[in-house]
Amino acid sequence: MFADLWAELAPIGRADSGGYLRFALTEPETALRDWFRRQAAARDMPVREDGNGNLFAWWGDPAAGGAVLTGSHFDSVPHGGAYDGPLGIVSGFLAIDALRGRGVTPDRPVGVAAFVEEEGGRFGVPCLGSRLLTGAIDPAAAAALTDADGVTFGAALGAPPAGRRDDLLGALGAYVELHVEQGRNLVDRDAAVGVGAAIWPHGRWRFTFTGEGDHAGTTRMTDRRDPMLTYAFAVLAANKEARLRGAHATVGRVRAHPNATNAIPSTVTGWLDARAADTGTLDELLDALVKKVTERAGRDGTAVSVTPESVTGVVDFDPALAARLARVVGDGTPVLPTGAGHDAGVLSAHVPTAMLFVRNPTGVSHSPAEHATDADCERGVAALAAALEDLSCG
Ligand code: GLV
Ligand code: MN
Ligand code: MN
Ligand code: MN
Repeated sequence: MFADLWAELAPIGRADSGGYLRFALTEPETALRDWFRRQAAARDMPVREDGNGNLFAWWGDPAAGGAVLTGSHFDSVPHGGAYDGPLGIVSGFLAIDALRGRGVTPDRPVGVAAFVEEEGGRFGVPCLGSRLLTGAIDPAAAAALTDADGVTFGAALGAPPAGRRDDLLGALGAYVELHVEQGRNLVDRDAAVGVGAAIWPHGRWRFTFTGEGDHAGTTRMTDRRDPMLTYAFAVLAANKEARLRGAHATVGRVRAHPNATNAIPSTVTGWLDARAADTGTLDELLDALVKKVTERAGRDGTAVSVTPESVTGVVDFDPALAARLARVVGDGTPVLPTGAGHDAGVLSAHVPTAMLFVRNPTGVSHSPAEHATDADCERGVAALAAALEDLSCG
């Protein structure tokens, strides 16, 4: 039963906000990883690690090849919802239970994965585990990434990351990630389950605004070089440039130094998250924004530098696999693009990949308001079970 297994996870890492603080390799996420191992053991599924922080529970020996993998991630954004990530892992185990319950014996191995640091909430680079597994990030660069306390990813992992694992990638025949929908497409279409066909190109850029720290009470307004002004301009300009292009731009994280009410800051750092339907539009948005902000910095007597932290190109999932999933799930299943990033997007460059989305009645995600009903989650499990059976048998 979905509700019973789900209830085991609910208290782990829940904050007073009702949202979750499940950062990669911290105590709550480690508790979830322990839970993963217990679930795998209860199902006689050996767990293998890939040396990058990712866990895989196997029904059958992956070395046999053509393996069908499902799964997702346990980590959350700060005060994120319960479903983003864990739903895909819980559904993976329950789909295997469903197949076993009806006596299905797959011809190819079936696995459930838990990828590390999907959100980039601790070390800044999203999909870090899947990027390492596929060689999309240099292991030494990943090991050196630091969290807010200066702890490196390598130290948190307890060893240098292994990097690209061709043996594992070569054993995979398909990856199907189930995820709560992070928008209102399924609600609007009155569908409990949809198929993910593409991911918008997206990225994170760090904007550092530098001015002159000074006294809030004694510095004449005309003498100021206040980086907060340039930052505020940048937030408004990002919003405007995104709207003009039907794109999305967000500044959800900001840091001021010295962060005192009565001091003009010397530095403000803001992180831009920008996404668009195609790469050209995303590039144009960034170019236009950087141009405007640089001009504004000139007027404010400040300086701005822009550093890309991670940029992911457009992902088109395997069209044949997406069509197959839609057929298996049932007539009229919506096939949708999404603006959210996923490990599936990283894996799709190496393995035929597609996604299943479960309806989210609020449409809200990365927030405690994220939701999916138990009944829809059961439908998601049934859809995933049908997909795994179709892909692993015959
Ligand atoms: C991951 O959830 C993202 O921000 O797309
Ligand atoms: Mn997320
Ligand atoms: Mn997610
Ligand atoms: Mn994500």
